Amino acid sequence: MLDKVKDLYQEIDHYIVSSPEQLEQFRMRFISRKGVITELFEHLKTVPQADRRAVGQELNGLKNLAQERFDSFSQLIDEQRSAANNAPPVDLTLPTIPNLTGTQHPLTLVRQRIIQIFERIGFNVADGPEIETDWYNFGALNFPDNHPARDMQDTFFIEKSENGSPSSDVLLRTHTSNVQIRLMERQKPGTAFQPIRSIMPGRVYRNETISARAHCMFHQVEGIYIDRNVGFKDLKDTLYHFVKEMFEPGTQIRFRPSYFPFTEPSAEIDISCQICGGKGCNICKHSGWVEIAGSGMVDPQVIANCGIDPEEYTGFAFGMGIERITQLKYVVNDLRLYTENDVRFLRQFEGL
Ligand code: DAH
Repeated sequence: MLDKVKDLYQEIDHYIVSSPEQLEQFRMRFISRKGVITELFEHLKTVPQADRRAVGQELNGLKNLAQERFDSFSQLIDEQRSAANNAPPVDLTLPTIPNLTGTQHPLTLVRQRIIQIFERIGFNVADGPEIETDWYNFGALNFPDNHPARDMQDTFFIEKSENGSPSSDVLLRTHTSNVQIRLMERQKPGTAFQPIRSIMPGRVYRNETISARAHCMFHQVEGIYIDRNVGFKDLKDTLYHFVKEMFEPGTQIRFRPSYFPFTEPSAEIDISCQICGGKGCNICKHSGWVEIAGSGMVDPQVIANCGIDPEEYTGFAFGMGIERITQLKYVVNDLRLYTENDVRFLRQFEGL
């Protein structure tokens, strides 16, 4: 019995109470009429007469300790409760501190707008690899073996064939036209032709020294439409629509004959300068016009290279630089700003 009393001394001594629930547990165990101490008092009768006095004294001591602890725990809990009640009331009408969520990058804003314009007239978005073989980036697109674009000066090569023939070269794509080839190739011979009407936004790479006007990595959106009876008129209609949607009202557009290995005929597309309204300024080199895209009717040989019959199917393609469109829309005159992550630049696009 004395051992039991000693254990309870220890237990009470180490007891910690920090909530009203724990205080109640303490009371039930040590103070209440059904608690362990009352129970021990009842057992006192069974202790031999000789020891009863000493054990009784110990038990009384235990009872007093339990009461003392209970009183001080109760006081503590009371204090906690009144501290909580006296805390200044929370003002639920206070405005919150807004989260700084960052802003969308201007190139993202422009890319999304371009996609939206073309999606609304039935183009879908296609994707393709940035690491490409020579065939998809050049060969299938009619670039002759000795075309200067294939030169080390312009293209980042990952693997260069040893025998000098470009066909096994692996490179970083220099334009998104590789996706056009991959889309056309996907047609299954012998099954019904699925018209292709897609745009392909993506990163492209060229071996240029970085300056205000050139970068080794930039973004393009190309488009392609292949079906029966697609003509140059469809190309013009589509790009007129794009310019009308993308730029200021009243923007002029002109098609200028040009050359690309993969289109015939080819045209470059100029719009009236957004900065000076066509009067002449530094951006348009005082011509009043700025170039925004290349385009043309897909060369029948390119269509045939992808296993589609060019006698039956025709189409147009176009390609533009997202940086260029962004420069004209937001008057950004240094390409390096797009990749330097300077928040003073990026914050200006907040809320657009
Ligand atoms: N691939 C060309 C370039 O990177 C742009 C281009 C021109 C794409 C004409 C086309 C096109 O699809 O038809 O400069």
